[in-house]
Amino acid sequence: MSKLRHVETLTSAPVVGQRYLVPTVLYPWFGSTEAWPVMGPKHTDAEHIGFDVPHFHVDVRFLSDAQVRRIERRRNFGDIESIAAGYPLATSHTGSEAEPHPEPVFRRLTCRRPGHGYPRHAAGARQGLRALAAAYAGRKCGRNGAGLLVCPHKGFVLGSLEPDAERRVVCPLHGLVVDVATGSVVGGGACAEAA
Ligand code: FES
Repeated sequence: MSKLRHVETLTSAPVVGQRYLVPTVLYPWFGSTEAWPVMGPKHTDAEHIGFDVPHFHVDVRFLSDAQVRRIERRRNFGDIESIAAGYPLATSHTGSEAEPHPEPVFRRLTCRRPGHGYPRHAAGARQGLRALAAAYAGRKCGRNGAGLLVCPHKGFVLGSLEPDAERRVVCPLHGLVVDVATGSVVGGGACAEAA
């Protein structure tokens, strides 16, 4: 029986080249319907960011090289982290009918690239990200049942992120910066202080 770790139970960054259980959603993204690795819960971002379409965020750590090539062929600017941050896996439509996202399915996927640094130039919603950072400044993260820090914004479990030298992690969903020693939000906005 496999002993693969579920990526949301990790207490350090996934190791490139090793396999993990990763949530995936079979859904169209950049014109290709396939099982995309996702992270965090499905949500909307009407508040602060002004994007009220239900969406997941793609976990670039677990995209295959072929998936990255398919995406980059269709968006010939920026790196894959910037593309993923700026273009979530949002509800698409067939005619006027919204196609609901299926429930995530866990798959055994290899970590292909190191963790997230929220790209400074990723989102057209930078003003919204700054408003989000201001609204959440000083807020405390909760902890899940396993004791891992959970981002107070939309509930991303922060355990699989590698802290920087100042013991900070940047939530890959919308760029809030968390001091893992205190569990408090200390920055964000996808700008200099978030690096
Ligand atoms: S879930 Fe939005 S910044 Fe963490």
